[in-house]
Amino acid sequence: MPDLAISTALLGWYDDKARSLPWRAEPGAPAPDPYRVWLSEVMLQQTTVAAVKPYFEMFTKKWPTVEALAAADSADVMAAWAGLGYYARARNLHACAQTIVADHGGQFPQTEAELRELPGIGAYIGAAVAAIAFGEPATVVDANVERVITRLHAIESALPKARAEIRSHTQSYTPAGRPGDFAQAMMDLGATICTTRNPDCPDCPLRQNCAAERTGNPERFPVKLPKKVKPVRHGTAFWLERNGAVLLVRRPDSGMLGGMRALPSGEWVDTAPGFAEAPANVKWAAFGTVSHVFTHFALELDVVGGHALTDGDAEGEWWPIETIEEAGLPTLFAKAATLAIAQRENVE
Ligand code: ADE
Repeated sequence: MPDLAISTALLGWYDDKARSLPWRAEPGAPAPDPYRVWLSEVMLQQTTVAAVKPYFEMFTKKWPTVEALAAADSADVMAAWAGLGYYARARNLHACAQTIVADHGGQFPQTEAELRELPGIGAYIGAAVAAIAFGEPATVVDANVERVITRLHAIESALPKARAEIRSHTQSYTPAGRPGDFAQAMMDLGATICTTRNPDCPDCPLRQNCAAERTGNPERFPVKLPKKVKPVRHGTAFWLERNGAVLLVRRPDSGMLGGMRALPSGEWVDTAPGFAEAPANVKWAAFGTVSHVFTHFALELDVVGGHALTDGDAEGEWWPIETIEEAGLPTLFAKAATLAIAQRENVE
């Protein structure tokens, strides 16, 4: 039974080599707190284990339970998420916590199907929480799993077309016992052995079964379509100072970086917009440009600085420059603030 052989080999490897992570139970141990599993999986959906660890520690310290998170101020949740990216996920995270408290008495639903009904819980998180926290043999597929499976089977069709085939193989390997450990073992294998570049095939527990290894070039999988060149957009961010404070605004809930604190910045458009949407009629000095890559476009943001003569010059919140790091600016505007702080001395 080759399917069982795969999960047995993988679980044996995991018993020995599982990474010890703050949201995890030891291999084979009782399931961890669903709140911690869910929170970690939402965070891990967009970035690496190393980047997530400090955020996970900070969130669980501030909000140790789903009730605490549900009761938090949404601006505080958004600010705490700053730097992780994909800010709609932070809004959904908060909405999900509130739904669990309001509609489920503070208890996470225990099946993939019920979890999927909650805000922000899609195929990946629903399956991961069901498997890891509740032992349901749900099919968990993330980018690590895609890499492992396309290599095991030397799948020639490109992503995203290969997804159905990947899912069906993953489902057939997922064991009825220890499905959560199996999912995490697949992810650990993808993160530590079956890496995008330079996979460590000699140490792989699935080497005997791996069709890609036999081709001599496992890195070729997963096959991907050529990347589209991202369009470039342009914008201006305005660093407006008064009495040691800088003007910050809150971005509208819908749209890019929705609900986050930011420097005033008008529309992001095809050609540099200059001062068209300045928050005050003052003399602006050019500080330079920051670049940032979003999922669907790259942004070139010109940063300009000026001094307001009165508090009433502009709408927003005057934030002390000394504590700008506590404002919870998303990475784009944190970069713009760093540039402004470095440049303002030169320009004045
Ligand atoms: N990536 C996303 N979730 C993970 C998990 N639970 N273990 C390891 N890597 C992951």
